[in-house]
Amino acid sequence: MGVRLDPWGYLAVEDYEKLLKEFGIQPIDQVLSQYPLEHIYFTRRVIFGHRDLDAWFSKFLHGEKTAVLTGFMPSGYPHLGTAMVYEELKYFQQKGVFVKIVIADAEAYAVRRESREDTIQRGLDFIAHAIAWGINPDKAEFYFQTEMPSSYYRLIQMFSRKVTQAEIEAIYGDLAPGKIMAALTQAADILHLQLDEFGGYKYVIVPVGVDQDPHLRLTRDLADRFKYELGFERPASLYHKLMRGLDGNKMSKSRPEYAIHLNEPLEIAEKKVMNALTGGRATAEEQRRLGGEPWKCTVFELFTYHLIRDDKQLEEIYRDCITGKILCGQCKRNACELLKQLLKNHQDNLKEILKNHLVEKLVKKPLF
Ligand code: TRP
Ligand code: SF4
Repeated sequence: MGVRLDPWGYLAVEDYEKLLKEFGIQPIDQVLSQYPLEHIYFTRRVIFGHRDLDAWFSKFLHGEKTAVLTGFMPSGYPHLGTAMVYEELKYFQQKGVFVKIVIADAEAYAVRRESREDTIQRGLDFIAHAIAWGINPDKAEFYFQTEMPSSYYRLIQMFSRKVTQAEIEAIYGDLAPGKIMAALTQAADILHLQLDEFGGYKYVIVPVGVDQDPHLRLTRDLADRFKYELGFERPASLYHKLMRGLDGNKMSKSRPEYAIHLNEPLEIAEKKVMNALTGGRATAEEQRRLGGEPWKCTVFELFTYHLIRDDKQLEEIYRDCITGKILCGQCKRNACELLKQLLKNHQDNLKEILKNHLVEKLVKKPLF
C-alpha cells in the first residue's frame, strides 16, 4: 500500500517526488520551460506539481474565460502557510485572471467543533487577511458555502448520484457521511463557475496545498461524468509544498505555537523564530568548520517562501550557511527583521480594512 493523502489529517510530506509518482501529479519543470510563470514559487519549485496547468495556461493565453478558485476552511487563524495561497491568488489576479474565494463554512461545520459564530467570524477574518495581503477586492469574489443559491446545491445532489462508495474509498479510505458531503460540496465550489449563472468560466485552476489533491481527483472525475449533461471541463490544479511549522513538523492550526500567524504581535513572532529548528550544528566551532544544513532549516524555509524575493540574495544566504560563514544566531536575527517588516505592513493594511468594514460589504451573510 502506498501513501494516502488525508485532506483532514496532519501529514508532514517528506518526499514530494514520491507523491508525484504515486498520484500521477505532473511535475512543474516541463511547464516552466514552456510558459511564462515568473513567480518565485515556480522558479524555486515551491509549487512542485500540477494537473493540466499547461492546458489551462494555453486557454488563458488564447483569451478564453479563465478563473482561479480556491478556498479556506475557517478554523484557527490565517498563518504564513495560508499566505502562500493568498500570494498565488494575487499572482494570477495581477495577470488578469478572475479570482473567486470560498469560505468553507459548511465543511467546517461538518469536520470541526467550533461554534457557528466563531466559524463565521473567522471566515470574515480570512477574507480581510486576503485583501490585506494584496488581493484586489474589486476584481475578486468571496462567498460562504452556506449562502449559495439552490443551483449550487443542486450540483451537490447531482454529483451524489454519479459517485460510488468504491470510488470514495479508493480516494479517501473509509469516510463518514459528513466528510463525503464536504467533498461533494468542494466539487461544487470548483465546478459551479462553469455554469452560465456564475459567469461560465470553463477553465478553472485551483491552487492548493497538496493535501487537497484527493478532492481534485474526485472533482475531475465528476467533471468527466457531467461533460455531456452540464458541459463541464476538467479543472486544473496547482500544488505547493506544505510549509513546515517552526519545529520542523507540519504547520497546523492545531499547533499554534509552531506557526507564525498573520496577526501575531511582532515580539511573539520574533520569539518563535529565535526558537525555531535550524540546520545548525551543535557548537559554533563545528558550524564554522562543517557549515550549516539549510535544507533542514525552518528559518531558511521562511526566507524561501516569504522573506527574500531576490534569487541571488537567497543563493547568497545558502552559500554563507553551507560554508559556515554565518551562524544561526545572526541569521535568525536577520530573518526576524524581515519578518517583522512583512507582518507590520500586513497588519497596517488589515487595520485599514477592518476600520472601513470592507469585508461585511463584500459577502452575503451565511445561514444559521
Ligand atoms: N477543503 C479546503 C480546506 O480544508 C477548503 C475548500 C473548500 C477548498 N472548497 C474549496 C479549497 C475549493 C479549494 C477549492 O482548506
Ligand atoms: Fe538556517 Fe541560517 Fe542556521 Fe543556515 S545559518 S542553518 S540558514 S538559521
